[in-house]
Amino acid sequence: MRTVGSVPKDLEVGRELLYLRRAECMDVGLTRDDILALTREALLAHGRKEYEMPAKVGVHPYEDVFYHAMPAYVPAKEAVGMKWIECYPRNPAEFDLPQTTGLLVINDVETGCPIGVMDSTWITAMRTPAVTVLAAAALHPGAKSFGMFGCGVQGTEHVRFAPMALGDLEEILVYDIDEVATDRLIETIQPEIEVEIVRGESPRQMVERCEVLSSATVITRETLAVVKDEWVPPGRTLLPCDLNTFWDPKTSRRADRYIVDSLEEHQLFADMGYFPGGLPEVAAETGEVLAGIAPGRQSASELIVCSNIGMAVCDIVVGQAILERALEKGRGTILPL
Ligand SMILES: NC(=O)c1ccc[n+]([C@@H]2O[C@H](COP(=O)([O-])OP(=O)(O)OC[C@H]3O[C@@H](n4cnc5c(N)ncnc54)[C@H](O)[C@@H]3O)[C@@H](O)[C@H]2O)c1
Repeated sequence: MRTVGSVPKDLEVGRELLYLRRAECMDVGLTRDDILALTREALLAHGRKEYEMPAKVGVHPYEDVFYHAMPAYVPAKEAVGMKWIECYPRNPAEFDLPQTTGLLVINDVETGCPIGVMDSTWITAMRTPAVTVLAAAALHPGAKSFGMFGCGVQGTEHVRFAPMALGDLEEILVYDIDEVATDRLIETIQPEIEVEIVRGESPRQMVERCEVLSSATVITRETLAVVKDEWVPPGRTLLPCDLNTFWDPKTSRRADRYIVDSLEEHQLFADMGYFPGGLPEVAAETGEVLAGIAPGRQSASELIVCSNIGMAVCDIVVGQAILERALEKGRGTILPL
């Protein structure tokens, strides 16, 4: 009988799996430094084309929602599995529930058997900002100011992660249409980090003042174009997590370089109508920049847009590490198959 794990918890592969609740995922001892290192490994594998990750397959019970199946195999980590994620933008207002929920399944690469099922909320909340800040460090080393649009789950974690990868940061500006969310972010995170967190006055002030900016607001087919193209000066690095919704689509088109985490994923969203007018020309993938296959910033005046919509390779690599730690520490519930 093949087993995985070691004392104190072993699994009989093909007979059992380990189920991890959200709190157990958070509590296995993976630090944000670990998450950054694991996410970097996943991005490097992606950049070197050492992965299998078909573009997301989705179903859409309502016009404004999506469910995505996100499978991936990363040979370097012997990691294989799938995230099944939902995005319901109306959840916070209507049901007091998160926009993004989901489950992650990890399989045993040798036999294919499922060995772990876990809540994927924390993984998503961790690996998304990790990608943003790793990209920011590669595309804008030495940045002194970071601006975050959206102070929800993602925005809050972005502010935690930003100083870890951007060591020269002197200030972080945050902005949300919901002032309570802005205040909550500042109150929660300021005691944790040395860099000063400042409430942004307006989207225009944010983009005029910050060298590097990210957005995690909502994803809709129609663009909101909250930041007008004419406000964006040269030399900025913009890192949307919310596709093309928040920014004026003209900005991605005129950027000196438009970089995406996955060309295939972006093309899929473009085919679904999320890029009215079509996908801007893609210069490189984020993992290629991290792997040195594509260049980082080439001049101080370069305007770079780097859109990261989220890749299963990152989820699976982080999820596998969580499963391994949980087995080592005897956390979670073993369920029979
Ligand atoms: N790229 C990825 O890998 C990835 C992963 C997870 C989530 N997301 C996306 O990131 C976004 C945020 O997710 P979340 O879990 O943090 O959601 P959340 O609901 O916790 O936070 C979103 C915040 O954005 C604010 N907001 C909405 N419209 C705004 C606007 N016009 N200007 C400023 N703020 C605005 C809301 O008030 C809210 O506080 C969603 O669109 C989600 O689909 C992307």
